[in-house]
Amino acid sequence: MAEVNRIGMLTGGGDAPGLNGVIRAVTMRSINEYGYEVLGVMRGWRGLIKREEDSTMSLSVADVRYILEEGGTILKSSRTNPYKNEGDAEKVVENMKEYGIDALVAIGGDDTLGVAKRLHDDFGVQMVGCPKTIDNDLSATDTTFGYDTAVSIATEAIDRIRTTAKSHERIMVVEIMGRHAGWITWGAGVAGAANITLIPEVEPDLDEITNLFKKRAENGESWGIVAVSEGVALSEDYITQNAEKDEFGHVRLGGIGETLAGEIKERTGIDTRHVVLGHLQRGGTPTAFDRILSTRYGLRAAEAVRNGEWGQMVALRGNEIVTVSLNEATEETKTVPDDLYRAAATFFG
Ligand code: F6P
Repeated sequence: MAEVNRIGMLTGGGDAPGLNGVIRAVTMRSINEYGYEVLGVMRGWRGLIKREEDSTMSLSVADVRYILEEGGTILKSSRTNPYKNEGDAEKVVENMKEYGIDALVAIGGDDTLGVAKRLHDDFGVQMVGCPKTIDNDLSATDTTFGYDTAVSIATEAIDRIRTTAKSHERIMVVEIMGRHAGWITWGAGVAGAANITLIPEVEPDLDEITNLFKKRAENGESWGIVAVSEGVALSEDYITQNAEKDEFGHVRLGGIGETLAGEIKERTGIDTRHVVLGHLQRGGTPTAFDRILSTRYGLRAAEAVRNGEWGQMVALRGNEIVTVSLNEATEETKTVPDDLYRAAATFFG
């Protein structure tokens, strides 16, 4: 194991409230307890492929002490993939050497961590991963920071939308993020008492939705809330904003809320509108839960560097922060299990 004097740290993929909590904890423990230098790498993997003037920032305790409550990431983020263009992965390794980075803490979701795993396997990069995603879809950890904040924001939105839906006797379709895992929608649907919650894991039944709202109208309630995940498909295909794909091959989802609202309106005759919550769900200050979880992840990630636990990712198992292999971390997408969906369905109607 090569000696560690300077660690690098980067954040990749969609931002999540709590990223600054990890950055703060890694930096403070690394400097105060282990005597490392900490170099922030800007804009995810892009900061290590392109050597731009502002590709790195040296991090001190003073730089990070008061960033815990700030949303976003002070290191900025991108969806750059070093395995997309030939030679970029090699550039990452060369630039790490140039910057004197002996070990790297990569904070991200399955894309960022997948790259971290490959760089560790292909080049022996001394790598530690930290899971991040509002989508909560990483199987190797019980939960990720950002998820609690996203659910809280979506729940508050549903609470607010309900009062106007009732006043105007409308059905409101609320489109919620989460790609192909319905966790945020499931959480907000339960906490926000949506009349029906639709997630990508369960095929939607338009007749069932129509009957539910017709029955409510017969009982004098011509209004209602549908919580729908952006990844729900009414036919074979997902609804996407455009044909563009990011560097990891993901399409930009969005549009199911509008399409579904049109269908419901036509079938029930009740005025139906849609709201897309979008990036609101990722912005702003993290909840106390996410501040604490991100802090615990960051502290353990610094410890993993000190222990030389290369190729590992920090994870929450029960109430413990443990390390698991990056391999395991990126193996499969964690989706909402059927029994949890059924629990939500108890309250439909
Ligand atoms: O993965 C996090 C996430 O917010 C998804 O829920 C959503 O589909 C996607 O990112 C949006 O990505 P972008 O910020 O690139 O629009």
